[in-house]
Amino acid sequence: MRLSRLQKNFESLAAEDPLWTVLSDKSKKGGKWDPEEFYQSGEDCIRGLQERLAQIDISLAGATALDFGCGVGRLTFPLSRRFEKAIGVDISKSMIDAANQNANRGKNCQFILNTENTLSFLSPESLDFAYSDIVFQHIAPRYSKRYFIEIAKALKPSGIFAFQLPSHLIHGNPLKKRLGYTLKAIAQKLGIGQAYFEMNAIPSTQLIPFMEQRAGLKLLTHWDYPAAGPNWQSYLYIFQKPTAEQGIE
Ligand SMILES: C[S@@+](CC[C@H](N)C(=O)[O-])C[C@H]1O[C@@H](n2cnc3c(N)ncnc32)[C@H](O)[C@@H]1O
Repeated sequence: MRLSRLQKNFESLAAEDPLWTVLSDKSKKGGKWDPEEFYQSGEDCIRGLQERLAQIDISLAGATALDFGCGVGRLTFPLSRRFEKAIGVDISKSMIDAANQNANRGKNCQFILNTENTLSFLSPESLDFAYSDIVFQHIAPRYSKRYFIEIAKALKPSGIFAFQLPSHLIHGNPLKKRLGYTLKAIAQKLGIGQAYFEMNAIPSTQLIPFMEQRAGLKLLTHWDYPAAGPNWQSYLYIFQKPTAEQGIE
């Protein structure tokens, strides 16, 4: 899906029901998420990540964290409690508006609307940590790869980039899925289709060499992370930017 269509889809879904657009639990559709329960799930997620990273001697602390595809700030706010500053970036204005309306849930957060495939507002080597959860699965790989390179540039040496991404389908036929999306896109072009989520994957066997060779990041570890649901093999990847002395072997 082209970035402009992705933006329209998310904007349309977020304008109607932002919390459900972020966490699409069937029972919560139609504004049924309790905001406290919803935002607590973000704290639980970041605490789990923090505990897991502690096992490899990485601490969730420092000057600046980025939350790419921040939605309504569910994960940005808990990051802001661990870093001096947290920057949330999203493609949907309704999401950014909702995040700003909830700004008192975090401390020192900045929310940025970005509809481009670049992140030129981020200074080189300015981030200690970048995170992205349930976002790249909705973005076509050609765009995700560009964001990966941009985020890598913005990381400080030794900075960490942690993100979730499906590798492949476990159940279901990828061609059938692709055909389904093509039909939905045609229906939208004809003005009879509704907004929808598209799922994307990059095989881990392609992603890891890409990140190391093109983005210049080193894989520290990755683990099963079924955030994309039971039909997908999905991982949480932890990459680190080497220092000048380390380079990439
Ligand atoms: C399922 S929500 C997840 C939000 C947040 N990461 C969380 O877990 O609470 C996906 C978010 O990614 C955003 N998004 C999708 N494509 C994006 C892009 N190319 N750049 C920035 N944000 C994007 C959507 O607008 C939406 O807010």
